[in-house]
Amino acid sequence: MIILGIESSCDETSAAVIEAKKKDKKVKILSNITASSLALHAKTGGIIPEAAAREQIKYILPVIKKTLLESGVDSPDIDAISVTTGPGLIGSLLVGTETAKTLSYALKKPLIPVNHLIGHIYANFIKSMFEKREIEFPAVVLIVSGGHSDLLLMINHGKLKWLGGTRDDAAGEAFDKIGRLLKLSYPGGPSIEKAAKKGNSKAFHFPRPMIGSNDFDFSFSGLKTAVLREIQTTKHLNNETISDISASTQQAIIDVLIKKTLKAAEEYKARSILISGGVAANQKLRDRFQSLILNNQSSIKFFAPEKWLCADNAAMIAATAFFNYNEMPWQKVDVNPELYFEQYG
Ligand code: KG4
Ligand code: ZN
Repeated sequence: MIILGIESSCDETSAAVIEAKKKDKKVKILSNITASSLALHAKTGGIIPEAAAREQIKYILPVIKKTLLESGVDSPDIDAISVTTGPGLIGSLLVGTETAKTLSYALKKPLIPVNHLIGHIYANFIKSMFEKREIEFPAVVLIVSGGHSDLLLMINHGKLKWLGGTRDDAAGEAFDKIGRLLKLSYPGGPSIEKAAKKGNSKAFHFPRPMIGSNDFDFSFSGLKTAVLREIQTTKHLNNETISDISASTQQAIIDVLIKKTLKAAEEYKARSILISGGVAANQKLRDRFQSLILNNQSSIKFFAPEKWLCADNAAMIAATAFFNYNEMPWQKVDVNPELYFEQYG
């Protein structure tokens, strides 16, 4: 089965063609083209929704054309079209969704709307050639992106139970806001990870909000306030201090994410842990999960997507459609910027 995926929920315009077989459930990416307006947003230190939507309009058709060309697939050979319909920025979402609806009508192909957050999870099901292990259910899933921090129990494909989420800032948002306080370039996550390499993670003891709470919720705004206070009392924010604050911030976020995920995995007797979303690209987070699971001599299998698949991309949207083939008449497909996990479970 050949699926064209389209993703335009935020500042990335992405189109991909995947080939997946029902028999072995293997997903192969034939092409994935992503145009990003990140450089534009770096200038303003954050995303301006109207500017992001304008960039989406500019890129959407060239990106789809290029991905089809690169995949070697002619449009009549596509079996289905999948598109992100939410959550995200309304203007950005509309560009991808209306394009996908038009293609579905013109090419007479089934259309599958996809939840962007579920899409992040499915980046784990696009395995690299070196990954021989299989994901086993039940799995505990940690989604950590710019707008979301959620813990879910995945009982099977299409069967998800939401366990908890952030009460204020998402993990990525905390990285971005603290990055801005430290005057690092946007987005803050990769910049803090880079600065942290030269820093001491024990130099500052920042709070680990809700680490011991009896639920699976997160809260990161207190951490941001603690860092702000530290910066205000520090007279000279030199490179060494920036590196130490970065390392200590990164450690605080990682500690909370891992503690809660392992707690959920234990409580629900998970056989796999999957992490996903932009923050899942953080090497320290990946290493710490691996080493803790190893040290605990646990039989839980830990999975993280290839780093480039942690960021927004259309291949994960097409993969989600393959594993959750919920086609819908194009006339009924609409965007929902506030979409959450309500249609699953
Ligand atoms: O999933 P994503 O690409 O977009 C959303 O759907 O939100 O996530 C973007 C977020 C940003 O907040 C960015 O700072 C964070 O992921 N991020 C990272 C890293 N790479 C991206 N955070 C920590 N470490 C990284 N290496
Ligand atoms: Zn995302």
